[in-house]
Amino acid sequence: MAEKNAELKGDRMEKIVSLCKRRGFVFQGSEIYGGLAGTWDYGPLGIELKNNIKNLWWKRFVHDREDMYGVDAAILMNPKVWEASGHTGAGFSDPMSECDDCQHRFRADHLDDAKKCPDCGGMLSEPRQFNMMFETRTGATGGEESKVYLRPETAQGMFVNFKNVMDSIHPKLPFGLAQIGKAFRNEIAPRDFIFRVRELEQMEIEYFVKPAEWEEHFEHWMGQMKEWMHDMGIDPAKVHELDVEEADRAHYSKKTVDFEFEFPQGTKELYGIAYRTDFDLKNHSEHSKVDLSYFDEESKERFIPHVIEPTFGVERTLLAVLVSAYTEDEMNGEVRVYLKLPPDLAPYRVMVSPLLKNKPELVDKAREVFKLLKKTIPNVAWDDNGNVGKRYRRQDEIGTPYCVTIDFDTLGEENPALKDTVTVRNRDTGEQNRVAISELTNVL
Ligand code: GAP
Repeated sequence: MAEKNAELKGDRMEKIVSLCKRRGFVFQGSEIYGGLAGTWDYGPLGIELKNNIKNLWWKRFVHDREDMYGVDAAILMNPKVWEASGHTGAGFSDPMSECDDCQHRFRADHLDDAKKCPDCGGMLSEPRQFNMMFETRTGATGGEESKVYLRPETAQGMFVNFKNVMDSIHPKLPFGLAQIGKAFRNEIAPRDFIFRVRELEQMEIEYFVKPAEWEEHFEHWMGQMKEWMHDMGIDPAKVHELDVEEADRAHYSKKTVDFEFEFPQGTKELYGIAYRTDFDLKNHSEHSKVDLSYFDEESKERFIPHVIEPTFGVERTLLAVLVSAYTEDEMNGEVRVYLKLPPDLAPYRVMVSPLLKNKPELVDKAREVFKLLKKTIPNVAWDDNGNVGKRYRRQDEIGTPYCVTIDFDTLGEENPALKDTVTVRNRDTGEQNRVAISELTNVL
């Protein structure tokens, strides 16, 4: 079985996009109306994969720790939040150039030639700052005073709830808040499948620390992020750390490290970790006139905590997971495609099928096994379409780690010793083993 990954170069993205559509992972948003740029919809398998990512993140960073608390803040926030955070100002703007001829717009800092339109060769305008926040209105009046924004990051929902959590849970420093939720950015040029979208989902942590201790916590969280990437099956050889220069850092950050990943379209930011100092809590204190300081019982000092922020995009996680898992090899003289997903991430953990679907005794027994496995295993698939070889190929392509087949030996007709055993096929090796039904949940 020779892996052919080395031969998969530029067309890797195309193959992944095509697999995602064909097998029900990701569809173009509003596709039947010609789509809407920067939006994508998740199909039956995509939502399972996405939920597995989010649930594992929550387990690892909230449930498995004693210093983390979850929140779920509103997407619409008082517009003063975005003044205090610096997002309505230049801090959250990208430089945009427009072509005089075709009127197409571009991110000026992403262009090779700042003067020439890459689409038609026309003259590009001088870049102007374009704020990426989406505006909308609350209530029926629709005037300027009702203007609100769709949040461009989940982070602010945690800063504005700092006092609520302090007053209700009384945590001691260091501790963190975690949130998973949608964010919206009016990207000038959404592109590269789900890599740069206008409606995205973030998994973010704001970890509050004593000012003098920020460096050790920064190191700790860098390590945590690497462990997370390992759990996701993200290929470590394709991940590179970039210490972001001051000029490229967000307006709130004193130090940022980006974890870049070798996506098929180029090496780009997957995740980031930032030292946000006391920037956010200090500004929210000043703008809201609500004291967001912390009193340290040990030192008897009052101060504004500093913040380490590890941030993870859900879409980019999903894309890096798919890029890492997509594998082509040769099996039985044919090229096969399979997703080498970690079992915890796979949309289906196991598929059950009867060898032949027109033999009621096989179907009944297979249904029995299906029901049994469903009791303990999160998501079990039933597949009786086509022959068993085709079913295996289909499950390989969606990353199902195991396939269980009920055959005549399961019924014990010829060899009573094999009664109540099934064939378990391993996705990665293609190996098939005989396993007693009573042992199945342990083996899987
Ligand atoms: N609260 C900090 C923050 O929002 P960011 O680097 O702007 O920082 C965090 O975004 C993460 O969100 C990125 O590392 C990336 O994974 C994801 N992300 C940002 N913009 C995105 C977009 N337009 N499409 C998909 N993911 C995006």
